[in-house]
Amino acid sequence: MKVLLAGGAGYIGSHTAVQLLRAGHEVVIVDDFSNSSPEAIRRVEELGGKKVVSYEADVKDKEKVRQIFRENDIDCVIHFAGLKAVGESVRLPLKYYRNNIDTTLTLLECMEEAGCTRFVFSSSATVYGEENDPPYVETMKRGSCSNPYGWTKVMMEEILEDAAKANPKLTVILLRYFNPIGAHESGRIGEDPQGIPNNLMPYIAQVAVGRRDHLTVFGGDYPTPDGTCLRDYIHVMDLADGHVKAVEYAENHRGVEIFNLGTGTPYSVLDIIKAFESATGVKVKYEIGPRRAGDLPKFWADSAKAQKVLGWKTKRSLEDMCRDTWKWQKNNPMGYGK
Ligand code: NAD
Ligand code: UD1
Repeated sequence: MKVLLAGGAGYIGSHTAVQLLRAGHEVVIVDDFSNSSPEAIRRVEELGGKKVVSYEADVKDKEKVRQIFRENDIDCVIHFAGLKAVGESVRLPLKYYRNNIDTTLTLLECMEEAGCTRFVFSSSATVYGEENDPPYVETMKRGSCSNPYGWTKVMMEEILEDAAKANPKLTVILLRYFNPIGAHESGRIGEDPQGIPNNLMPYIAQVAVGRRDHLTVFGGDYPTPDGTCLRDYIHVMDLADGHVKAVEYAENHRGVEIFNLGTGTPYSVLDIIKAFESATGVKVKYEIGPRRAGDLPKFWADSAKAQKVLGWKTKRSLEDMCRDTWKWQKNNPMGYGK
């Protein structure tokens, strides 16, 4: 299939692009590089062994997106092009609502004009909100979120469900990611956050490489075995494989399907620090600090549905996640160096 990756130069999009190419699909990328670098696309081509058609454009720009559909016979769209910094979304909510929702509407409208009927969406475990107890199952009701970023995901899921209800030809796959970490095993592509990392693994990697002095562990007094939060960390390459399965499933199915993409195994913040140290042999200096507003004590996935329906199963261990993160960080201490 020919797959359009909106936001395909980013962290998850670039790894997905490699796995799609290796599975024999064609890839078209549109990205405005607001949180990524064109160098990622060059490396995707190197790892995927094939050329990628790419456009530098804002996915809110309808004329430009129309042109992309005119110039390419797109079979399926994967929408990664979102803003994702939770703290920034609290400070700049309108920016988040405008970007995340407008990109979704623009893609849906242009798909309708072009007769493209398959849409795979980057959603998040955050849509389960505070009301649900782990493990999260796809049949649970969406909950309430503590920040505008989370609400954009809830709203976009609802928009996509309504669009599919109104158009029986449309296939919508909502992929709810848990905590993606790691990098391609080559160390050529990986996560390249701008400024101070918000998420745990990139922060650990930057402490290990000497870019930051120490990690602050957000809270040591949660009701968990070691007092730090529990999360379901998933290797980004397993996540990428989940997208390949979702695209192939969308080829022959109609309607809306939701899939959790997680391993089903929770680890604490201290588990991650220890695993990183033992996989890499590098010490990670840390101190326990106050809780971060909005953090939930624990959540992880029930991933049975993706296993059963998509035939997808995670293959990579926590050790792989740590080793591959470190290979990327060590070989590219300043990321893509944009
Ligand atoms: P990322 O920032 O690395 O990738 C997003 C890409 O979209 C970037 O390359 C950015 O330049 C591009 N982009 C943003 N707005 C755009 C626009 N208007 N036009 C064109 N390009 C635009 O983020 P990621 O970690 O790869 O996440 C991808 C998607 O998955 C996001 O929607 C994110 O909310 C979602 N998600 C991520 C995580 C995670 O932990 N990384 C977890 C759950 C969900
Ligand atoms: C966060 C977002 C979530 C989003 C996801 C992926 C919040 C409240 N949630 O999830 O909506 O979908 O990122 O972008 O921000 N930690 C530290 N020190 C750090 C960084 C993190 O101790 O410097 C801890 C956190 O408290 C948490 C765990 O590490 O317990 C994982 O944090 P993070 O990587 O930010 O992911 P989430 O909070 O799960």
